[in-house]
Amino acid sequence: MNNTSKKDFIQGIPKAELHLHIEGTFEPELMFEIAKRNHKKIKYNSVEELKKAYNFDNLQDFLNIYYEGAGVLMKEQDFYDITWAYLEKISSQNVIHTEIFFDPQTHTERGIPFGTVINGINEALKEGQKKWGISFKIIMCFLRHLEESAAMKALEEALDYKNMITAVGLDSSEIGNPPSKFQRVFERARKKGFLTVAHAGEEGPAEYVWEALDVLKVSRVDHGNHSLDDENLVQELIKRKMPLTVCPLSNLKLKVVKNLQKHPLKTMLQKGLLATINSDDPAYFGGYVNENYWAIAEALNLSEAEIATLAKNSFKASFLYEKTKREMIKGVNDYHRQTML
Ligand code: HPA
Ligand code: ZN
Repeated sequence: MNNTSKKDFIQGIPKAELHLHIEGTFEPELMFEIAKRNHKKIKYNSVEELKKAYNFDNLQDFLNIYYEGAGVLMKEQDFYDITWAYLEKISSQNVIHTEIFFDPQTHTERGIPFGTVINGINEALKEGQKKWGISFKIIMCFLRHLEESAAMKALEEALDYKNMITAVGLDSSEIGNPPSKFQRVFERARKKGFLTVAHAGEEGPAEYVWEALDVLKVSRVDHGNHSLDDENLVQELIKRKMPLTVCPLSNLKLKVVKNLQKHPLKTMLQKGLLATINSDDPAYFGGYVNENYWAIAEALNLSEAEIATLAKNSFKASFLYEKTKREMIKGVNDYHRQTML
């Protein structure tokens, strides 16, 4: 299969996105527009200048700019608008289901009410489902560089919006902030009926992935790259059918991998891990979900069958009902079969 038809194959295949920070979809043009209407200053003078700053040496480098960008979001309409822009984008990429993260503490710490944030995001997602049929779940992430007590406070606030939130997650600066720091807040979240996920093994060691599994009792591991350093862990992840939400362009831009040819995705698949492809923070890392599929398929010379496996994995790993998962997986199989005719 040549590269053009592989691109078409990726474009058309139905897929889900499971690792996406809504604050990471904030495109520079929209950032300037919203900053202007909110009378907020951005450190950069133009879109071009801002884009030039998107050169990261590591996760923290990126997070500094990402939090600054999110700082111009003030009103429910702002949260609606960034979510809507993301949906417009993925509606053109055959993403039929999305599970998005948001970071409430990034906003509540600045005095923005929790409800302002989640209502804006949720309203856009509901409208998007009506317009494009894209189903969705919302996952609230705790910022791991802050204390567990701050996460606990965010969880208490979230209880009023429980019907809108499927799971809690853990993001921000990984090294030095292990999953075990958040044992009690995750315990309480599970008791209240939330599912759990956590970023682990992006920059942090395999040990953090073990903690995500055994202490936080996650249903998915976000990133998980460093799992491959520990063969016992790999076997455990396989045994548990534990999904990994892998983000190739993010890994490249944050220097988790040297280049995409060295990316562990193919090894993950060959070992039988339930890996999925996601965009993480597409406005900052140079591509939405299809660009991630394209880049990694080209770098690792993935076959059509491997691409179809990744798309099926995205539904298997989702928080959809089993029946819906089966229907969506059938959609992938039908699509694959048709392209072979
Ligand atoms: N890792 C940790 N925190 C984040 C990320 C990420 O890739 N993106 C946004 N917050
Ligand atoms: Zn992430």
